[in-house]
Amino acid sequence: MNVTTRPALLDIAAIRDEFPILRQTIRGKQLVYLDSAASAQKPRAVIAAMVQAMESQYANVHRGLHWMSERTTDAYEGTRDAVARLLNARDRREIVFTRNSTEAINLVAHSFGRSVLRPGQAVLISAMEHHSNLVPWQMLRDAHDIELRVAPVTGAGELDMAGLETLLTDGRVGLVAITHMSNVLGTCTPAERIAALAHAHGARVLFDGSQAIVHRRIDVQALDADFYVFTGHKLYGPTGIGVLWARHELLEAMPPFLGGGDMISSVTWERSTWAEVPHKFEAGTPAIIEAIGLSAAIGFVESIGYDAIAAHEARLTDHALARLSAIEGVHVLGRAQDRGGVVSFTLDRAHAHDVATLLDRQGIAVRAGHHCAEPLMRRFGVDSTARASFGVYTTHEEIDALADTLARVREFFA
Ligand code: ALA
Repeated sequence: MNVTTRPALLDIAAIRDEFPILRQTIRGKQLVYLDSAASAQKPRAVIAAMVQAMESQYANVHRGLHWMSERTTDAYEGTRDAVARLLNARDRREIVFTRNSTEAINLVAHSFGRSVLRPGQAVLISAMEHHSNLVPWQMLRDAHDIELRVAPVTGAGELDMAGLETLLTDGRVGLVAITHMSNVLGTCTPAERIAALAHAHGARVLFDGSQAIVHRRIDVQALDADFYVFTGHKLYGPTGIGVLWARHELLEAMPPFLGGGDMISSVTWERSTWAEVPHKFEAGTPAIIEAIGLSAAIGFVESIGYDAIAAHEARLTDHALARLSAIEGVHVLGRAQDRGGVVSFTLDRAHAHDVATLLDRQGIAVRAGHHCAEPLMRRFGVDSTARASFGVYTTHEEIDALADTLARVREFFA
């Protein structure tokens, strides 16, 4: 990520104290957790908020008149306010809770895709999408006669903006759905430019912010987005809670995704009418405790501040790129100018799974495989990579441990 003015160094020791799990030793080695892009660890504030809610006030939301239900409803709805603030949404009713980003994208594909998009129109994604922003559109394509277009990625791992624009010029694209930061390459995409191009060609725009929101401040109004999705568990929150933000008028125009309790206004044998937005999209008992945990996670991130987080991660990423590139036989995928704390790499003569296994023996946790982005792997001529990804608690010493160990792993395979 480009950070020109770098704020003061974070007190990483104090931040790490907030993450009890990081204190562990594994087989006598200090745990080095470099898999935050898959799921981030949880600070005490998140764990405590969830435990406290279950120990003192737990009840279902929107249903009971007793004090525990009221208090829990306030906490659950308070998370909607926290998310609206985090994203700079115009209106808290624009926040829909889902299980994760995948469900949020499926909601848009199913509801917007089948009601607003018309057969013969196209959805435009990019070659660096996670399967979650690819498979739902393939399903829509097959069920609803929608064309699926894929904007190319350059050898440096950046979105090919000229290629993207070419695919928009016939005016048939109804939705552009693009990652805001690649979970494989670390590339941050130029979201404002993408939104402007999409709108100039009559298309709506969705950003998958699952990775980006961990590393940078998101302002859906400044981006001029139409849909923005993210998941709680990568943002230091719990699993099972994600967010769809969408413009209010779009949510009003879209039919429900799932039917059941809580999403209706009235029900007879003949027909049902829908609850007001956003409840129309939140069928069934929601992830109450997880929402409360997400609120605490947002509070944690805000207490540190995105400027400090971005600056810390930029330093870590620069350091990781320098250290890993200096090891003979190690190849980093993607060299985007604007990037976050995710570094994928291969090692000559070694399978990524073997690399990850040998690193794990030294207490270093990385992810290996196709990272739910098989077409992108093929674009770069590999079937898998190892991936180190950083969080606010990651240290330079951990990156040195990765590089030093990787140099020894390389000798093993050489
Ligand atoms: N999407 C997550 C990752 O990139 C799971 O690892």
